[in-house]
Amino acid sequence: MQLKEYTLDDVKGKKVLVRADLNVPLKSGGVADETRIAASLPNIVKLHEYGAIISVISHLGRPKGEPKPDLRMEPVAKSLERLLTAHGSGISTVTYVPDCIGAAVQEAVAAQSPDTVLLLENTRFHPGETRNDAEFARSLAQPYEVFVNDAFGTAHRAHASTVGVTEHLPSFAGALMLREVEALSLITEHPAKPFVVVLGGKKVSDKLPLLRNLCGRADRVLIGGAMVFTLARALGLSVGRSLVEEKHINACRDIIADYSESAAKLVLPEDVTVTDDIESPHNIANRRLAEIEDREMGVDIGEMTRDAFALQLSDAATIFWNGPMGVFEHKPFDAGTIAVAKAIAANPEAYSVVGGGESVEAVNKLGFAASISHISTGGGASLEFVGGLELPGIKVLTV
Ligand code: 3PG
Repeated sequence: MQLKEYTLDDVKGKKVLVRADLNVPLKSGGVADETRIAASLPNIVKLHEYGAIISVISHLGRPKGEPKPDLRMEPVAKSLERLLTAHGSGISTVTYVPDCIGAAVQEAVAAQSPDTVLLLENTRFHPGETRNDAEFARSLAQPYEVFVNDAFGTAHRAHASTVGVTEHLPSFAGALMLREVEALSLITEHPAKPFVVVLGGKKVSDKLPLLRNLCGRADRVLIGGAMVFTLARALGLSVGRSLVEEKHINACRDIIADYSESAAKLVLPEDVTVTDDIESPHNIANRRLAEIEDREMGVDIGEMTRDAFALQLSDAATIFWNGPMGVFEHKPFDAGTIAVAKAIAANPEAYSVVGGGESVEAVNKLGFAASISHISTGGGASLEFVGGLELPGIKVLTV
């Protein structure tokens, strides 16, 4: 897959609209995790060095087409300004513009000096964004001469700011977009074997296309998180009060049958950690998957499984991990996720890619980031990419 890359001539002295994925967690009016903002810097700095006049747009949360005061981009602008200043980029100011279309933007662009960046308001404050409305896309593009999409994390959404806008402006992939596609293509095209995938998270429904696609391509798919229990029910096991997506039990049955006929192994936990109440647990126990009692719910992979998964990862040549192994935000139910992060970091010879909020958080918290080959800024986007789906935001940037 070859994406359109901009050159100096494409952007020099031009008004450039950059789509970044600055959909970051917020806390007490500030940014709780700046990872995605930091990941957007190389492209902004490169455009600045090339003499572009830069405006950045992003969505933030899911405000459903209307302005929500707690989802404004203003705190993100402050973080971006601080990071660009600390970087020594030569960009001294990030000016927050309280809309992403219309007069406010036109005036800000007209008054913009080259050493500043404009950060426009949340695109999802307008209903036309998620509908990929043609008129809204035209309004986004109107003040600009070039469009650069660097929002890999949103590339699986066919929205006005990822797809529609490309009909109105010469469009290119940004530095992060290029890096993500290159890194994930190493997983999708000829991965070195053994290719081991670890999937977790609550919902098996989010991972069904990927599970189907990996059958026959991966050597082992290790399953953790609450998605285990819908698969366990498909095997006829009782899972107590564990989370189950009833409507997807049949699809899980088909997937289990497909794997049993293929060379790929679908590995469910041998044991799980169970409790009676996640919020204030009185009883925590380790149970075999087939022995969960009616009042119990599974909240993490168990002790034997942590060791078994570590062994499965120890000889892997390619690793892809997406999704936590348990209720990561509640200690001690983060132990399985931590064990997987440690096992991947303990195999530095493997080409390893980690994507998805909690998995990335675990790797960062434990200080293992340097041992991972690529940490993706895309959760859903990386799942769809590795699942072999065509991402609309990428398709419109291909040569
Ligand atoms: C993400 O966080 O995965 C992306 O920013 C996409 O957000 P969305 O799922 O709200 O479209």
